[in-house]
Order: sequence, then structure tokens, then C-alpha cells
Amino acid sequence: MRRQLKLTVLLGSTFMGLLVLLVDQEQDSCIPSMDPWPLSQKAPTEDPPGLTSRKFEWQARTPHPLDLKYPYPYPFLINHPDKCESPGGAPFLLMLVMTRPQDVGIRQAIRQTWGNETLVPGVVIRRLFVLGLPQPLFAQELRALLEDEDREHGDLLQVGFLDTYHNLTLKVLTGLEWMAQYCPTAHYVLKVDTDVFLNPSYLVQQVLRPNGPLRPNFITGYIYRNPVPMRRPGHKWHMPPELYSQNKYPDYCAGPGYVMSGSLALRILRVAQGFKALYLEDVFVGFCLKQLGLKPTPAPPNTFLVVKRKYDHCAFHKLVLVHHFQPQELLQIWPDFLTANITC
Ligand SMILES: *[C@@H]1O[C@H](CO)[C@@H](O)[C@H](O)[C@H]1NC(C)=O
Ligand SMILES: *[C@@H]1O[C@H](CO)[C@@H](O)[C@H](O)[C@H]1NC(C)=O
Repeated sequence: MRRQLKLTVLLGSTFMGLLVLLVDQEQDSCIPSMDPWPLSQKAPTEDPPGLTSRKFEWQARTPHPLDLKYPYPYPFLINHPDKCESPGGAPFLLMLVMTRPQDVGIRQAIRQTWGNETLVPGVVIRRLFVLGLPQPLFAQELRALLEDEDREHGDLLQVGFLDTYHNLTLKVLTGLEWMAQYCPTAHYVLKVDTDVFLNPSYLVQQVLRPNGPLRPNFITGYIYRNPVPMRRPGHKWHMPPELYSQNKYPDYCAGPGYVMSGSLALRILRVAQGFKALYLEDVFVGFCLKQLGLKPTPAPPNTFLVVKRKYDHCAFHKLVLVHHFQPQELLQIWPDFLTANITC
């Protein structure tokens, strides 16, 4: 009789324990999110006092899977501290190209095409490929490969976190950290992905203008206006409300390629370190911009394209960037793109 009672109590408390865990999971939204308004203004939760601390412990142990560990002193594992110390002075444009460790061939195609540092006469351009750590399974064989590649080209910046899509924001932010530490006087910084066509001459001469005035608050690209968070679970860009609860994102420049003044890059970095980072890096940069009271500057019309456009010599000479170009295609069109065509 006594034993049975004990068992009931035991089962009962186990059940309660499970219940607490489930309830806690439901209430993940109490993790300090990056909502602009302070936590204290949120609806009060109705936990008895004892539960709150237990909930806190539970959440401390189980962060949201999309939570990014930032700020955090991720090491630069392959680094080029003197990349920006060129005889021509501070670079006019620092290209931070986001790549994965295994993208050896893609990087080579980019070096031979739009990543070429000497493409724009009289303008100092510096290129760095930013990459994280490969999946442990491939780490061994990739390490030697990456060391060889870097010995030959001296343009890899490897940072010490796992290279995944959901860690892309970390890659951009640590790229900016590198800039803050080793290249703080770069006039402009370009964040660019690998699956694009880029026309550096047009970018430099028509959009950035080396002889024009400095624009400390300048950031441009393809601008998404009044963007709405994707709330469909399973979607590539799904944004759980517990990570960002507002129904609009601030305007932001699309991830495939955006360019900002060096001074703005440094301020964006500083702001970024004061908020919970979002895994959508372009959205997060837009969020930081808003915290600074700024908005993206419109680029000349139709110069940053997020939808694929078929290659056309004359049209591509009058734009900056086209998304969805694979390396083979880049290599294929590049010789034609470089030829002078007087009929344009
Ligand atoms: C980069 O461009 C320069 C000037 O156009 C050219 O001489 C050089 O061969 C190019 N480099 C590569 C790696 O394609
Ligand atoms: C991001 O990198 C960290 C550190 O390497 C890793 O522990 C984590 O799993 C990665 N996060 C995602 C979402 O891939």
C-alpha cells in the first residue's frame, strides 16, 4: 500500500517534470531576442517564482538551434595581416568573398574573372576569400589542400567556426572584424557571394567613384523594401518569431553582393556586437543599419540584379552584379566580357 503510494508520487512528479519541460519549450520565446524593445516591456509571464529560475537553467542548456555564438573571439586560422599594406596605400575596395572550404575550383574561377585585383587600372583592390571550418570528416584532407592553395595565392582567410549556411552571419561579421583589425582604412568593403557575375569596373567607376567625395554612411546593393519575415517552417529563410518577432524587417541589401563605406562597415560591426545576431546576414546588416538610424542608398537603377539575366556584352558592361552565375559560366563569358566592343 505504502509502496504503491510512493510509486504514484514518483510517477506523478516525473509527469510533472515532463510537463515543465514541455511548457518550457513552448516558452522559448523568452530567450532575450533581438527585438528593439527591451525585455521588460513584454507581456509578463505567469510562472510561479520557483519555475523561472529552472526555466532559465533549461534554456541556458538548450539554446535555439539558430542561435549564433557572437560576439566570440573566433581565431583567424589562415590569415594575411599585411594584405592591405600595399605601396599604393589603403585599398580603395576590399572584397570579402564568402566561400566554403571545399570551393577550391570556384575560388580559382573567381580569381581568373571578377576577383582579379588588377582589373581596374589605378585603383587598389584587395580580395580575401572568407571560409570557416570544414565538416570534421573532410578536415584532414582539406587542410593540406587549403594550405597549398593559400601558399600559391595568399588570399584565404579561414575563421574558427563550422562553415554552414546558418553560420554565414558569423562569416560576414568576422570578415568585418578582420577589416577592423588589419584594414581599417579601406575606403569601401564589398561583401559578395561566389554565385554571381560581378563587374568591378562599373562598381568602382560608376557607383563608388574614386574621385568623388567620401560617403561615410554609404551602403548599396539590391534593396529589399518593407521586407516581411518568412514564417513557413522548413523554408530556407524561415525566421522563427522567437528570434525576430516584428512583422517587418528593416530595408536591407540582398546578400549576393552589397558594398559599403569602410567607416560604415566599422560602425555596423560595433552595433552588431550589441544585439543577438540573426542567421540571415543581409537581414541582420539591415537591422544594424536601422539601429544606426540609416537606410541603404539606392544604386543606379538595374545595376544589382537578384534574378538571373542571360549574358549580354553591352548590358553587362552597364551593371554591377547578377546573381546565379556558376563558375563554368563565368569562365566561359569572361573573355568576351573583357574584349572592347565599340558598338555598345
Ligand atoms: C588580371 O588582370 C590583369 C590585367 O587585365 C591580367 O594581366 C592578369 O593576367 C589577370 N590575372 C588573372 C589571374 O587572370
Ligand atoms: C556554427 O559554428 C559553431 C562553432 O563551430 C558550431 O558549434 C555550430 O554548430 C554552428 N552552427 C550552425 C547553426 O551551423
